[in-house]
Amino acid sequence: MLIAPSLLAADFSRLAAEVQKVEAAGADWLHFDIMDGHFVPNITMGPLIVKSLRRHTGLFFDVHLMIENPERYLADFVHAGADAVTVSAEACTHLHRVLQEIRRLGVKAGVALNPATPLAVLDYVLDELDLILLMSVNPGFGGQEFIPAVLPKIARAKEMLAGRNVLLSVDGGINAQTASLVAAAGADVAVAGTAVFGQDDVVQAVKMLRTGKKPV
Ligand code: DX5
Ligand code: ZN
Repeated sequence: MLIAPSLLAADFSRLAAEVQKVEAAGADWLHFDIMDGHFVPNITMGPLIVKSLRRHTGLFFDVHLMIENPERYLADFVHAGADAVTVSAEACTHLHRVLQEIRRLGVKAGVALNPATPLAVLDYVLDELDLILLMSVNPGFGGQEFIPAVLPKIARAKEMLAGRNVLLSVDGGINAQTASLVAAAGADVAVAGTAVFGQDDVVQAVKMLRTGKKPV
């Protein structure tokens, strides 16, 4: 599994150093949680932070938009340096069009689904997708508990993809234990905030997420 630390749990007073720390620890992607205070109760960051960090790291920038009407900001995030832009299905009236627009801008297109949202909303957009982000907490805050009902959803999503070139990512409440469960269910990417940035030994934290146990 690829490991995508979520910047939300980093020390915002020293972001560049935090990002370089997880890059050196072997993280694969960097996950940005963008929240607008409408789709989710919390407000976090905009394209300015993505842009500021772009020159400090070579990590793949996985931008997760938890914002209403995300079509207004796609170009801003791509120009800021996003490599993938994921929109929340529940926040898009015209999901198909939004995904086409993300690809037209030249980056990978993702759709996030809240825990309660069925996979069926993806049935008719599978050809427009590069990434599915299954939320394993209700979006809005870091540090929440993993929702186990998402495990069979991961397995079903994997079946639905039937070998397509679409990555399956899981986000929320990921720690060493839940990481091994989502890996076994078929996830390709694990997003983790607290379990990476919240730890004293980030190298060990990334290894534990990858292997599900303490490295020897
Ligand atoms: C939740 C965000 C997640 C979250 C993950 O709204 O999308 O990326 O920050 O944080 P942890 O790993 O702390 O659950
Ligand atoms: Zn996220």
